[in-house]
Amino acid sequence: MKKILISLSVISSITLLSGLAFAKGDPKAGKKVYDQNCAMCHGPKGAGDGAAAAALNPKPRNFTEGKFKYGSKDEDLAKLIKNGKGPMPPWGSVLKPADIDNVIAYIRTLKKK
Ligand code: HEC
Repeated sequence: MKKILISLSVISSITLLSGLAFAKGDPKAGKKVYDQNCAMCHGPKGAGDGAAAAALNPKPRNFTEGKFKYGSKDEDLAKLIKNGKGPMPPWGSVLKPADIDNVIAYIRTLKKK
């Protein structure tokens, strides 16, 4: 009986972990990447109002709205961040894939509920 209970708890912790693994990036690590590389355009709180935003057209995305123009899946955002788009610079040679996953996780937290 004890054995069964132990294996049940192992199974449930695996399920829990894989649920967490679904969100790939670490938002705390992503905040550092964001503050250093993205805030000057996308704004300190992600409202699209960074210091450089006024000069840009189209405007940097406002992450507090949680809406995206070129697809909202993690893969879509990762591709756009890697390759850039118009005034949005490409980050593929600056940031590691893990940094990009982390910064996406952070951007997701900026959405106002
Ligand atoms: C030089 C200013 C600038 C910097 C720096 C910048 N961006 Fe952007 N970003 C933009 C602009 C402008 C757009 C809007 C592009 C468009 O609408 O075609 C944009 C759009 C986006 C989008 C929205 C894509 C969509 O489908 O709507 C994401 C996500 C994004 N940027 C992430 C980032 C991340 C992450 C960083 C930092 C690693 C970053 N940006 C740094 C200017 C910038």
